Amino acid sequence: MAPKSLRIEIRGRVALLTLNRPEALNALNSEMMDEVCDTVAKYGTDDKIGAFVLTGSEKAFAAGADIKEMQPQGYMDMYMSDFFNRWNELAALRKPVIAAVSGYALGGGCELAMMCDFIIAADTAKFGQPEITLGVIPGMGGSQRLTRAVGKAKAMDLCLTGRMMDAEEAERAGLVSRIVPAGELLETALAAAEKIAGFSLPATMMAKEAVNRSFEVTLEEGLRFERRLFHSLFATEDQKEGMSAFVEKRKAAFKHR
Ligand code: CAA
Repeated sequence: MAPKSLRIEIRGRVALLTLNRPEALNALNSEMMDEVCDTVAKYGTDDKIGAFVLTGSEKAFAAGADIKEMQPQGYMDMYMSDFFNRWNELAALRKPVIAAVSGYALGGGCELAMMCDFIIAADTAKFGQPEITLGVIPGMGGSQRLTRAVGKAKAMDLCLTGRMMDAEEAERAGLVSRIVPAGELLETALAAAEKIAGFSLPATMMAKEAVNRSFEVTLEEGLRFERRLFHSLFATEDQKEGMSAFVEKRKAAFKHR
């Protein structure tokens, strides 16, 4: 069945996923979570896909988790369903994902963008964790990923006051990798994804794994982990091709394995 809250387009080796609930500023409900996670599971194991772009609309990447879905729920509903847990499947995806953010990325929207590997923001982007204004706190990783991305001072400020930060502030703080004019957001994100998808897939997957590992382990363990991954890439055809192409002064033609 075609997804209702998500548009999927395959552009070469890139899967472009567009959140599509304009009537609710792309508020993240359970249906959308299932559709996003089913889709990344499908293309995550498809050799023909080398990278993803996740985006929303011009007005909103996503204005948070769906407040209308959550409003009637009680503790047991949330606990027994382990509400939001399935979003971890996106965070655990092994292939690179770029978030292309225009407009609001609030609450779960900001947290969803932070589950991606990096964020390219339109100059109209606004980030925030306004859960405190609803009598709750971030529940999809905001208190953890935002703190790692921007440090304690700004994470506390955003989580405790619920204020938004614009694209400039988000880039200065290290949440966003680049800012582009709104009209160039999608082409910039797709070009970056296409570039990534053109490289050796095991190498891009291992680069992602190595960077993410730095959040979990000591420097010494992380360096050892990186070195072992580096060594293992010498078992790939793509290492032979990449290095031969450099020596022969030609463009590498990676087989992605
Ligand atoms: N959930 C459900 N519906 C939402 C929504 C959300 N998070 N955000 C917006 N909508 C709906 C509005 O209810 C409205 O629907 P109706 O026309 O049926 O009333 C529609 O989208 C358009 O929204 P607005 O009329 O409010 O648009 P605006 O331009 O005036 O304001 C906004 C935009 C400032 C983003 C405002 O919509 C807003 O504050 N949204 C909520 C932001 C928020 O609190 N997000 C956190 C949610 S909790 C969370 O995410 C928990 C977590 O950690 C995962």
